[in-house]
Amino acid sequence: MTQRVRKAIFPVGGLGTRFLPATRAMPKEMLPVVDKPLIQYAVEEARASGIEELVFVTGRGKHAIEDHFDISYELDQTLVERGKSALLDETKAWLPTPGQIAYTRQMQPLGLGHAVWCAREFVGNEPFAILLADDLVMSKTPCLRQLIDVHEKTGGNVVAVMDVPKEHTNRYGILDLESDDGRLASIKGLVEKPAPEKAPSTLSIIGRYVLLPEVFGQLDRQEKGAGGEIQLTDAMAKLIGKAPFHGLRFEGRRFDCGDKVGFLEANIAFALDRDDLGEAVRDVLAQYARPR
Ligand code: UTP
Repeated sequence: MTQRVRKAIFPVGGLGTRFLPATRAMPKEMLPVVDKPLIQYAVEEARASGIEELVFVTGRGKHAIEDHFDISYELDQTLVERGKSALLDETKAWLPTPGQIAYTRQMQPLGLGHAVWCAREFVGNEPFAILLADDLVMSKTPCLRQLIDVHEKTGGNVVAVMDVPKEHTNRYGILDLESDDGRLASIKGLVEKPAPEKAPSTLSIIGRYVLLPEVFGQLDRQEKGAGGEIQLTDAMAKLIGKAPFHGLRFEGRRFDCGDKVGFLEANIAFALDRDDLGEAVRDVLAQYARPR
């Protein structure tokens, strides 16, 4: 019997330099895909996957995220006065319950591994999830739920993976495979951002993880890796051999919303998927698809 995965970490301490100037005063995680901020998609995915307690690892200039998940008395009152209480009911449906979200500050953006380590006291000694809001996944079963389902069968650590073009291995944590059945891969090594000629495979980790708390023991060392940052991948690599470690080719489509083209593509895909917008957006796209 594995311990239930109840807690999730949302690292939102990054600077989002690829989206400047949009991210000068606004967190990257508040960028909307259609009409919903990236961070809300991640929170909804976590809750739909059975997560009960959420911790956000924030940094300077991230207040908008806290406000987004709080009650807004003036707005709520105005909506009621203007006969738009349906909008208010919609908000109530996704707002986390009081006390369900905790916030901690990373203080310095020293890397993803460091951000995760900042949440160690909150997680304690149980398996936990990590969601990176800039990786948005469109799927029937929430991506995190798919990982938790595997974790409940295999135990140990489980990360979401996908095949990337060989020339992109230097953007991701890459798997060295022990075995692979086409869906689930058993991992014997992990390398952060290897050059294409040094990459052990093209299977890369995207921003969904279920990890054992032992990873905090590795992160305690504060060792710097690729790019001079404290890398989560390096700490995870040290867990291999001590407990099962799997990569799951999840069902669904992932959009890299930390990248401009990926973000625009997500907006198109999510708009096309909407009953109220799909047709109008299809018409617009048809105009742009015409040869110039
Ligand atoms: P990225 O590598 O996308 O970095 O981080 P970034 O700073 O957000 O964006 P760019 O590259 O400058 O445009 C991946 C995830 O890790 C978090 C980010 O918030 C993002 O969710 N992160 C990264 C932290 O929380 N702290 C860090 O020190 C670094």
